[in-house]
Amino acid sequence: MVIDSRAWDVVVVGGTNTDHLVRAPALPEPGATVQGDVYVESPGGKGANQALACARLGARAAFVSRVGAEARGDAAIAALEAEGVDASHVARDEDAPTGVALIAVDASGEKSIVTAPGANHRVRVADVEEATRLLHRARVVLLQLELPLDAVEAAVRAAHAGGARVVLDPAPPPSRPLAEDVLRLVDLIRPDAGEARALTGIEVRDRASARDAAEVLLRRGVGAACVQAGSAGDLLVWRGGERWLPRLPVRSVDATGAGDAFAAALAVMLAEGRPLDDAGPFASAAAALTTTKLGAQAALPRRDEVEALLLSAGLPVPGPRAAVP
Ligand code: RIB
Repeated sequence: MVIDSRAWDVVVVGGTNTDHLVRAPALPEPGATVQGDVYVESPGGKGANQALACARLGARAAFVSRVGAEARGDAAIAALEAEGVDASHVARDEDAPTGVALIAVDASGEKSIVTAPGANHRVRVADVEEATRLLHRARVVLLQLELPLDAVEAAVRAAHAGGARVVLDPAPPPSRPLAEDVLRLVDLIRPDAGEARALTGIEVRDRASARDAAEVLLRRGVGAACVQAGSAGDLLVWRGGERWLPRLPVRSVDATGAGDAFAAALAVMLAEGRPLDDAGPFASAAAALTTTKLGAQAALPRRDEVEALLLSAGLPVPGPRAAVP
C-alpha cells in the first residue's frame, strides 16, 4: 500500500478580501464619476479565489491567510469551507478588518481594482512558521503578493524546504524586488504584463516580448514562466520548450478572477504531475470561463466545465488522475 504523506494537492498562501463590484459602461478617468448599474458584494482576494478555484478543479486545497473578526471575515471563511477548502489556517485578527477590494468593470469586461489590505498586511513570518507542517504536506504551494513580501518569501522557502513545488502569481506587482534566492526556488511563475515589467523591466506587448521576459526570469532561476502576452494569449516557457496559449474565444463579461483561475489551474495540474504542455491549455480554458460571468468567486469554473471547453476547442483533456506516486 502506498501512503501519501502529501495530504494536500495545493496549499495557497495569500490574501482575502470582500469584493465590492460595480458594472458600468466605462471605467472612470481620473477625477471622473461614472454611473453604473449592477452592484455585487462577495468574498474575494487573490489567495481566497485561488484556493476556491483549486477545490472546484478537483484538488484537495488548504488556505493560509488572515481576516478580521467581523461578519465579512465569517463570510470569506464560509465561502471557502462550503467548497471543501481547509480554512483552519485562516487567522482572525481582532484589530484589523478583512481586506476590501473596490472593483469597476466596463462593458467590454475590462476591470480595475483598488484594495485596502486590512488584515492581509498583518500576516507575519511567524504565521507562516506556524503553518510549516501544512506547507510540508503540500504537493504544490501557490502564492501571490497580497501579503507582506517577507511573509511570502518565508512561505516560498518553507515550501521548497519541505519538498513542495512552488507556483507564484506575482500579483499585485511587488513594491520591492523579490529576493533573488526566493526566485530561484520558484518552479513556475505567472506574471501579467505589468508584473512582468516590474520583475524584468521588459514591456510585454506580444509573444516575442513575452518570450524576452520569460527568458530573463528563467536566467534568474525560476523553473518555468507563463507570461501574459497582451490580449492575444499567454506564452509558457520552460528550459527546452515553450507553448503558445492563444486566448480561447468565449463571451467575456468580466475579467475579474481570470488570473486567479489561470494560476490555480496551473497549480492543480502540477500537483497532479501533468506536463506543462497539458497544464497550459487547461489553465487557459479555466481563465476564459471565468471571464464569462460577473464577479470572481461566482465565476470560477468546475473541472467538468473546463474539460468541456477544452473538448470543444479541440484541445487535449487531461486524463483521469494517476495513482499517488
Ligand atoms: O484577482 C481578483 C481579486 O483581486 C479580487 O477578488 C480582489 O479582491 C483583488 O484581490
